[in-house]
Amino acid sequence: MNWTPNPADKKPMHKQIQEYMKEKITNGEWPIGTKIPSQRHLAATFSVNRSTVVTATENLIAEGLLSGNKGGGTKVINNTWSLLAAGSHMNWSSYVEAGIYQPNSSTIRHINEAEFQRGIIRLGTGELAPDLLPSDQLSELFSGMKHRSVHLGYEHPKGNGELRQELAKHVKKRGIETSPSSILIVSGSLQALQLISIGLLPPGANILAEKPSYLYSLPLFQSAQMKITGVSLDKEGIQLSSLKNQHEKEKGTVLYTIPNFHNPTNVTMSEQRRQELLHRCEMMHLPIIEDDAYGELWFHSPPPLSLKAQDKNGMVLYLGTLSKTFSPGFRIGWVVGPEHVIERLADLKMQVDYGASSLSQWAAAEALKTGIYDNHVASVRYKLKEKSQKAQAILEKHLESLATWNVPSGGFYFWLTLHKPVSMGKLFKHCLDQGVLLNPGALYDHETSQHIRISFAYATLPEFEYGIKIVAKSLKNLYL
Ligand SMILES: Cc1ncc(COP(=O)(O)O)c(C=O)c1O
Repeated sequence: MNWTPNPADKKPMHKQIQEYMKEKITNGEWPIGTKIPSQRHLAATFSVNRSTVVTATENLIAEGLLSGNKGGGTKVINNTWSLLAAGSHMNWSSYVEAGIYQPNSSTIRHINEAEFQRGIIRLGTGELAPDLLPSDQLSELFSGMKHRSVHLGYEHPKGNGELRQELAKHVKKRGIETSPSSILIVSGSLQALQLISIGLLPPGANILAEKPSYLYSLPLFQSAQMKITGVSLDKEGIQLSSLKNQHEKEKGTVLYTIPNFHNPTNVTMSEQRRQELLHRCEMMHLPIIEDDAYGELWFHSPPPLSLKAQDKNGMVLYLGTLSKTFSPGFRIGWVVGPEHVIERLADLKMQVDYGASSLSQWAAAEALKTGIYDNHVASVRYKLKEKSQKAQAILEKHLESLATWNVPSGGFYFWLTLHKPVSMGKLFKHCLDQGVLLNPGALYDHETSQHIRISFAYATLPEFEYGIKIVAKSLKNLYL
């Protein structure tokens, strides 16, 4: 919802809100059965006091459009048409609950909405701040479009040929020898995970993943009736002792790992651990999904070569993305793997969306070819390193008595370990009520009540300091 009432309008604010909500109901955006957002949420979205929202809602209840709030949330019970022609209305609610895909957790849905509220401080966001994105370089690139030939039709099932050629050169820097025919362009690496879940794994498959992991924040494998089994992590990456041989016997077991600047712990797997892991997986016939979303964002020296670089048996599917380095909005990622696996995934991608945006693919190829991408990433590394050091000083100032954390050598995140457990839900709400959005650790490890993922990539440093002070205050209040 981008609309807000106009305080300069003669019409009272509650009346403007009432009319806006009524319009949503009459034009079918909020059909009968829709649960409307909470009063607190609406007040924040409309930038008004809660009492203004209460008045508007009560008037709509009096008109018979909304139900009273008796613990189950306020729902649309009539639209103006159904009031006129009582009896015939479409109830979408049972359909909404019927789909096979599970909804995101309520915390994730809350975060996805709240990130767009005006004035919110985003302490958890896994995205570069707008001033770290290459807006000027891209304006220049797009303004030069009229002098070049841009393909705007559908693309090859594996994606734009020129982009795949550029990517084959690009992944060489991570030690990977491949050719364009073994690369699939996807709409973000998240889509790669989805294609893998529907195309390569049977229902009931077991996904081994570091615990904690980004993967736990996604319901996509569970929606496909698969389970995630946690493997433990130390300072050098996955602990091999937690890869039990019994997994070998389970049909469709794969290992998902984020070896570089891991989300959320920021651990980077050591060279030796990579070799041992590959060897162990070869012995176990355990395929690996290597997610290298953050590998280029090193501050001092590049991480060890990718697992894929040392994979002589085609065991590793390697995922890359432009989202963390260049532009999440491009929705461009890639998979490198054995040709027949790439062909299977490409066929599925054609069924799902018929290819990633051809304009994004063109721009990505140009950015890689002209060096715009490499220059930009070099500057992001430098700026992120500086920012991480300043952010760390802020953590030391305000949180030292409450938590410990990793010193980042790349990536986006501090993984805070709280000295004492706390209710993750209460902490999230407490901070959000004061305009600070954070990612509770429980999103990445459902069992923890002692961790928070803090990103230094998004908020400005003054915002970061303000946000961290709120986190410290909230923790102290909750510990009372
Ligand atoms: C480890 C990891 N993989 C994949 C993704 C999704 O990236 P994309 O925008 O390419 O879908 C993220 C985003 O947070 C991530 O942290």
